Amino acid sequence: MMRIAVMVSGGGTNLQAIIDGINAGKITNTEICLVYSNNPNAYAIERAKKAGIPTAVKSPREFENRADFNAALLQILTDVNPDLIVLAGCLVVIPEAVVEAFPNRIINIHPSLIPAFCGTGYYGLKVHEKVLERGARVSGATVHFVDAGTDTGPIILQKPVMIRDDDTPETLQRRIMEQAEWKIMPMAIDLIANGKVRVENGRAVVDGYDELLDTL
Ligand code: GRF
Repeated sequence: MMRIAVMVSGGGTNLQAIIDGINAGKITNTEICLVYSNNPNAYAIERAKKAGIPTAVKSPREFENRADFNAALLQILTDVNPDLIVLAGCLVVIPEAVVEAFPNRIINIHPSLIPAFCGTGYYGLKVHEKVLERGARVSGATVHFVDAGTDTGPIILQKPVMIRDDDTPETLQRRIMEQAEWKIMPMAIDLIANGKVRVENGRAVVDGYDELLDTL
């Protein structure tokens, strides 16, 4: 059984997709051992509690400096020692020490097709605002491993979503969640839980990827 810790900051719809995926048997061989939030008011925490999952809330604001917060965060994670850390709408910059402690064992969902519209400052609605500003015709979502950079780690899965003329950042955000994020995040977790993903020469290799394409 792969034990995962899910890190969140907000509404937690991706967390919900993971919980539902496990309950529906779409994500196999996986249990959530912890949901962590930096934000005590995150609705994601309510979702975790309703599902009977242990939670931890620790905000950087509780600490005098970032180094102390980073040490506390590392401690929370090493205490549960998950096989995989899943960033599901987590706005905390993951400290280098955490990345080093969990090499190729942290994944993130980003709401664009990396390497477009990603990197520092690209989070939340801003991503979709920039996509529309640029007049892009397609966007989507990406699940990738987390390395020391911002949105630079090996890409595991991506799914495109077509942009409509009448899209607003809000409608695009919602459609990307429904059509892409809530599908590829559970799928990536299931693949990892079943030993089907490895990193080779800085790229993620997914066993049976071409057959998977029909189900994406
Ligand atoms: C999603 O758009 C995700 O891609 C991004 O943050 C948002 C989180 O939404 N990283 P939710 O909290 O899962 O509802």
